[in-house]
Amino acid sequence: MNDHFHFQQDRLFVENVALDDIAQRFGTPCYVYSRAALIDGYRQFAEAFKGRDHLICYAVKANSNIAILNQFARLGAGFDIVSGGELQRVLAAGGTADKVVFSGVGKSEAEMRQALEAGILCFNVESPSELDRLNEVAGSMGKIAPISLRVNPDVDAKTHPYISTGLKQNKFGVAYTEAFDLYRKAAAMPHLRITGMDCHIGSQLTETSPFIAAAEKVLALVDRLAASGIVLEHLDLGGGLGICYDDETPPSIAAYAQALLGALSGRTEKLIVEPGRVLVGNAGVLLTRVEYLKHGEEKNFAIVDAAMNDLMRPALYDAYHDIVSVTRKPSPASGRGGEREVQSLIFEVVGPICETGDFLGHARQLGVAAGDVLAVMSAGAYGMSMSSNYNTRPRAAEVMVDGTVAHLIRERETVRQLYAAEKIVA
Ligand code: LLP
Repeated sequence: MNDHFHFQQDRLFVENVALDDIAQRFGTPCYVYSRAALIDGYRQFAEAFKGRDHLICYAVKANSNIAILNQFARLGAGFDIVSGGELQRVLAAGGTADKVVFSGVGKSEAEMRQALEAGILCFNVESPSELDRLNEVAGSMGKIAPISLRVNPDVDAKTHPYISTGLKQNKFGVAYTEAFDLYRKAAAMPHLRITGMDCHIGSQLTETSPFIAAAEKVLALVDRLAASGIVLEHLDLGGGLGICYDDETPPSIAAYAQALLGALSGRTEKLIVEPGRVLVGNAGVLLTRVEYLKHGEEKNFAIVDAAMNDLMRPALYDAYHDIVSVTRKPSPASGRGGEREVQSLIFEVVGPICETGDFLGHARQLGVAAGDVLAVMSAGAYGMSMSSNYNTRPRAAEVMVDGTVAHLIRERETVRQLYAAEKIVA
């Protein structure tokens, strides 16, 4: 629960709209975001870095709905993208290419062309072969590509191994020990212009020390390069700041910013950061309705209408998301009427998909009945953006609440849309 999601008497509200009303109106499963929470998070970043030349490049992969991208663009954000598709979304949402940085280990030639055509701020190059390819592509277009190298600082982010990216064994970036020589090589390439250095060590970090350790290694390299005549304009320190899902105590945005600014004190390079999760994670919930309660021999199951295809994080990372009933008493809307007591039990909260891994939460104490609406909390980041159509399940609707108004920002998919591009062979 936070300022934007709160109980008023017995109903859970997002801003000034009750979540059970949203479920009624738009159906379930349904992602719901608070516009005020998005604005609030962004402003905290802007405030914390005020007075220093900086650019906040929202990591599009965390949640790429164009209404969300548009909101951040209007606040002045840049964007961190990892595909040509994300670039197209940013532009469709009203973002500008000159504030876009392009990360990712596998940029295709077509994506490079698209980004050069659009005129992005910087390519975060992740390998020697990518450097060669970008130089060629830019040359063939008569353009100069602005680049930084994504340096892998070999720092332990102390997070889940699947979302840790800054260790030697990870596929990301160029090895710290090879970066200096690669910069020298890049400096001699005619169709590239070196503008910065980049690093990103992982996601859902709950301490500042790994960020600082990475920044220090990056800065040592920046100084070595300067001494050899390669002077950088910007430092991109990536994203990765964690949020509270359960009982984590990540640093606040202000504390994180203070730590980075401390490490950069006395330096004039423009600072770029690429936050994703921290800007959207706790700004969204996934609403789901209980279809059935099933009392097995060993466990009680609350079978809900959202599944691993809607929110993959529990299945993929064994991630924890709090799950709460949006009404504390039985609601008339659930068809049960009256004040009948609901017994509180320990439930496995599971979806309809045919996989044992299809769960949203293990061993949750809930007082629920069939028909009740549950909110899966902290689902704004890497929820909808990682969803799929497994089991031919149309993807959820998305709603953005602004004060007392709920806007549909993505219609629920239809099954027809799912097979529209498929062809039967004669
Ligand atoms: N920049 C780069 C280059 C990244 O790879 C990422 C995330 C970010 C920025 C944003 O990181 P954030 O601020 O959101 O931590 N699907 C996983 C998270 C994967 C993160 C991948 N990279 C999850 O659901 O936890």
